[in-house]
Amino acid sequence: MRAEQSSTAQQGTTRVAKLFDLSQRVAIVTGGAGLLGYHHGAILAAAGANVVLLDLPGANPEHRAEHLTREYGPESLGIRADITRESSLENARSQIREKFGRVDILINNAANNPKVEDGNTSWSRLEHFPLEVWEADIRVGLTGAFLCSRVFGAEMAARKSGVILNVASDLALIAPDQRLYRVDSLPEDQQPVKPVTYSVVKTGLIGLTRYLATYWSSSNIRVNAISPGGVFNDQSHIFLSRLKDLIPMGRMANRDEYQGAILFLCSDASSYMTGANLVIDGGRTCL
Ligand SMILES: NC(=O)c1ccc[n+]([C@@H]2O[C@H](COP(=O)([O-])OP(=O)(O)OC[C@H]3O[C@@H](n4cnc5c(N)ncnc54)[C@H](O)[C@@H]3O)[C@@H](O)[C@H]2O)c1
Repeated sequence: MRAEQSSTAQQGTTRVAKLFDLSQRVAIVTGGAGLLGYHHGAILAAAGANVVLLDLPGANPEHRAEHLTREYGPESLGIRADITRESSLENARSQIREKFGRVDILINNAANNPKVEDGNTSWSRLEHFPLEVWEADIRVGLTGAFLCSRVFGAEMAARKSGVILNVASDLALIAPDQRLYRVDSLPEDQQPVKPVTYSVVKTGLIGLTRYLATYWSSSNIRVNAISPGGVFNDQSHIFLSRLKDLIPMGRMANRDEYQGAILFLCSDASSYMTGANLVIDGGRTCL
């Protein structure tokens, strides 16, 4: 009886390990040298993947990738690339092919994230919102995700296997609460607001997710989105206390608290999931 139990327990442990195992898989994280991208890459590396951190030169993705390799073991690669330029992505694809031979997972994580919670950003108001900022935000957040999906997804489609994960936001589901950003000393027409592009980009990514999920379903590519809530990053006391009141769990996320969901969505643990949006927001959008 005891021997039977231990063999069932053993099989269970093996099954769990297998569901989340990413060894022999190659995963790209765009914006991989940023605040969250590195942590997304870290959990994939911890599960055995070769991780490619793709980011702009100024973000120094090579340095972050060396750190991943040192910390987790499987070889990681940092590539300087601009996701808004298809030629830059094709170049990145050649480097990845040369190093690892394939791509299994793509996380579209890069975005422009202008910080308006620090005040002094009256340009963020719709009436003054610069057209060039609109175009630049859409170019990175939406066009970049489209181009990466096309360049790397086509390769996955040819092999009939792959996972794409788009990083949206709780603001893909709800409008920003502009009271969070108020600066009491400023007149109404200079109050900072969360830029319109953030809502547009994040909502658009959910549309891209559904489109690609059905488009590539017969090619065995699963495409999902994750909608994270805000991450604590030394925001002002006033901002934190206002936001806390909007979140049932009463706090922002820590930067490693999306790792479980990232691993789930990129591994075989989510093998029957596509076209979905996983919301992880401390309960904010259920109010
Ligand atoms: N931090 C949060 O509170 C939060 C909350 C919800 C959703 N998100 C989303 O999570 C993702 C990561 O957020 P973060 O806080 O790590 O942001 P971040 O600004 O720290 O990182 C974004 C990265 O994208 C890179 N990038 C920008 N333009 C690029 C381009 N053209 N080509 C390649 N790389 C480019 C930047 O260099 C940067 O390293 C974003 O999509 C963000 O909108 C963040």
